[in-house]
Amino acid sequence: MPTGSQSEKPLRNSLRLHKVTTFMTEEKTNPSWTGSRELHGQGTILSKFDFPKDERALGGAYRVDENAELLQRYFLFERLLLRAQAGWLMGTPEFEVKVEYGRHIYYHSEAAMKLRTRLTELRSTEDIVDSFTSPEIEEVFRELISAESPAHFLAGVYGVLLPHLISAYTIHTQTTDQVADAPTIRILKQILSDYTEMYLWGKEALDAYVRGGYDGANIVFSQMHLEQVLNSFGGVTGRTERSDKPAQLRSSTESPFQRSFIATRDPRFTTFEHTYEYKIADKGKIVYNTVFDETALNLIRSQRDELDAIETFSNVLYEIRDVPFGFDYDIARIIYDETRHTELGHKALQELGYDPFDLANRLLGIKVRTKMPAEYSFAEINLFGEANIVQEVLRHSREAYSMGDELNGKLFDYVNADERTHLSKGIRWLKYIFKTDSVQEITQKTKDIAIKRLLELGIIDHEVALTISHKELAKIIGE
Ligand SMILES: [Fe+2]
Ligand SMILES: [Fe+2]
Repeated sequence: MPTGSQSEKPLRNSLRLHKVTTFMTEEKTNPSWTGSRELHGQGTILSKFDFPKDERALGGAYRVDENAELLQRYFLFERLLLRAQAGWLMGTPEFEVKVEYGRHIYYHSEAAMKLRTRLTELRSTEDIVDSFTSPEIEEVFRELISAESPAHFLAGVYGVLLPHLISAYTIHTQTTDQVADAPTIRILKQILSDYTEMYLWGKEALDAYVRGGYDGANIVFSQMHLEQVLNSFGGVTGRTERSDKPAQLRSSTESPFQRSFIATRDPRFTTFEHTYEYKIADKGKIVYNTVFDETALNLIRSQRDELDAIETFSNVLYEIRDVPFGFDYDIARIIYDETRHTELGHKALQELGYDPFDLANRLLGIKVRTKMPAEYSFAEINLFGEANIVQEVLRHSREAYSMGDELNGKLFDYVNADERTHLSKGIRWLKYIFKTDSVQEITQKTKDIAIKRLLELGIIDHEVALTISHKELAKIIGE
């Protein structure tokens, strides 16, 4: 029997041979990079390397935990800010301000979402971010929201909170580790670009309030008061020098803030609430050449009158608490869309040669919804209003396109696209809030409550209440 060592010899030799041949073939098919001309790529081999210098220094002001602590505070400021603006939306009568709040609520929700996502990269979780509270930050928002007028509230948001947030975010981008924490710097810079737009608008809006008749000195006094509350707990970061708290807080001396239950309108508007029919409200003053013209004007007016949709969703956002931030984010986006629908309607009326304020504003839907519990007003506008309008606007868009009316075609094309997303987002959150998968169950409960409100307001009688269909109800109080 051959020994093991004898039998292994030829095997070892053959292995060595294999290695050498493999290396030689690799050299041919896969030549060494080091030392080759190809290593320097195609083109000229440079003799100088004067590229832009990366001046970013390492070693910022915050460790990961400190950074997360600050971003968590910024998140809460953004979330409470959008909820405060939602709380004041119904009670702010001025058209331009109401519409702009609708846009800015969404900007703040985007800022909060970016901060939340970054926090999950800094060892936090969405649940931790969403459930964070701070009695001090909440106090400043109670003080802000307890403003004596829409102008004072606007002055607090745009003249006090926004500048403080701009300053905190700017300092954060300059002092955090420029390389290790670059993702935070990037999101804060994106947020700051929205803030520039919001701040500049707010400054002009405040001037407009003062030019319109508000006492500027009184407004400045209220801003100083709010600033003092903010500084008493170290400002946005909680890290600046603390000053004394004002002796009296508005929120502790006056009755707690309540959002307006009236959908306020500035005096440029004429309004009606006894019917949903524009034709009845106009008392035949508008003459239409064709059925298409009548449908077009009615639908355009409905869009402008979606001021009540901005308001309904703002009330929903303000009143429904204990929900994940994803709820705020989706509702804020719907508010922004309804803002655009209102603007589209307003501008389309101008295109048609009207002064939009000359066409009476319909208040019936919001009058019904304003006193419904928030989850039902949400269900009502979504399952009745939006579900009803989505097909109607698509039909109108197609008809307009076929008649060569590009303006109406595109307007309602986009509105349809938006409303489809509202339906799907809305239904998802309604199921979450009502804790059921049955849309039918939510619809039935909502119908009962809406009918009760219509009876209370004397819009329908008991006989109609017994037989009213889903479609008829949607028409009366729809979006
Ligand atoms: Fe809409
Ligand atoms: Fe909608």
